[in-house]
Amino acid sequence: MTEETINSSSRRRESRIPGFYRLEVGERHAELRKRFGLTSEDLDILRDGGRLGVGRADKMVENCVGVFGLPIGLGLNFHLNGRDYVIPMVVEEPSVVAAVSNMARTVRKAGGFTGSADPSMMIGQIQVLDVPDTDAAVKAILDAKEELLTLADRVHPNMKKRGGGARDVEVRRFDDEYPMLVVHLLVDCGEAMGANAVNAMAEGVAGRIEELTKGRVNLRILSNLADRRCARASCRVPEMHLAGNGYSGAEVAEGIVQAYRFAAVDPYRAATHNKGVMNGIDAVAIATGNDWRSVEAGAHAYAARDGRYTSLTKWWREDGYLMGSIELPMAVGVVGGSTQVHPTIRVLRKILDVGSAAELGMVMATVGLSQNMGALRALATEGIQRGHMTLHARSVALAAGAEHHEVDLIAAQLVDAGQVKLDVARELLTTARQKAV
Ligand code: MEV
Repeated sequence: MTEETINSSSRRRESRIPGFYRLEVGERHAELRKRFGLTSEDLDILRDGGRLGVGRADKMVENCVGVFGLPIGLGLNFHLNGRDYVIPMVVEEPSVVAAVSNMARTVRKAGGFTGSADPSMMIGQIQVLDVPDTDAAVKAILDAKEELLTLADRVHPNMKKRGGGARDVEVRRFDDEYPMLVVHLLVDCGEAMGANAVNAMAEGVAGRIEELTKGRVNLRILSNLADRRCARASCRVPEMHLAGNGYSGAEVAEGIVQAYRFAAVDPYRAATHNKGVMNGIDAVAIATGNDWRSVEAGAHAYAARDGRYTSLTKWWREDGYLMGSIELPMAVGVVGGSTQVHPTIRVLRKILDVGSAAELGMVMATVGLSQNMGALRALATEGIQRGHMTLHARSVALAAGAEHHEVDLIAAQLVDAGQVKLDVARELLTTARQKAV
């Protein structure tokens, strides 16, 4: 399978924005206007939660009663295949955006990430039951491959016009516990995620498959284990760049490698390790209007592809460098689906500025690797709670009713007290306000 490596050095944008986190939201918006050419209307959309509006939302799901808001943060400092990326992330969990940005900064100093992605090949599955002669059915399907591909393309001619389309037919046979044939239709979805097209194609060829196999078709649906559509990212960081908080670079690198090995051998740990990876990846999937459940499903199935659930990333040490890599299915698109429905996504795409589904996949893999590096680094040194608590305390202060100017003070007091709790925050707030009058 050919790999695509994007190096769009023609598009220049700095992902390093020093002190961004210290700015007020309004000042951050001024940066967005200056750096990414966002208009006043774009900024209003970001500020107001996208104005998706209940009217539009009502057309998206059944029994709609409202619209739900989530914070948008920007992952900074990313440098991938020689190009900077500012990466929008929609996530409610404190510390995810900070962790990926910090690690991206460390990797950036060492030259940045390298990424690659497969073509956008999805798999449509057709389940065939009650096949009277399995050998004959397999042969009949494979002999009719070209006919089936033509039939599938006829269902979705636009896909072919845009350079994609049905590419191959494979047959998988299950002879033992539950006998059945499963036909795989491989479809290059180009710049789209492609779920609708693949489902339609699978339905479109089902009748002919029944004729060829003399069996009975049951399900016709895409597979979320999109293992022909993987994205990869890797990094190589001098160990001395990892030193900090009283730990030498070699100690941090060794801690990260041992943490990876824990996830590599133990599914109980791998589930948490990969949850962290997906903290970053899901956040970008949501920000770009992609189906994050599909990306999640693909990732976890891929993590179990060898029969034991394991880590999606790898970390090892080599000649004074910490080396990291990730590979996972990345069924994401830049056209179609909800990528065009939500006004906020249109604005966030201006910031992210990816030109293709493959490029988006690589960016997402990079964010996953970065998140994992941040989590393992924290876990293998001071532990996760300190950083988490500082950020969590801000949410608790807000929940207790702190105004914008009060949040940092109350959050700091909560952390100092070692009790990041709502009732404590309310008491601190009352005391702070009494002192202020
Ligand atoms: C929390 O959302 C994610 C982590 O648990 C990931 C990990 O343990 O690697 C910190």
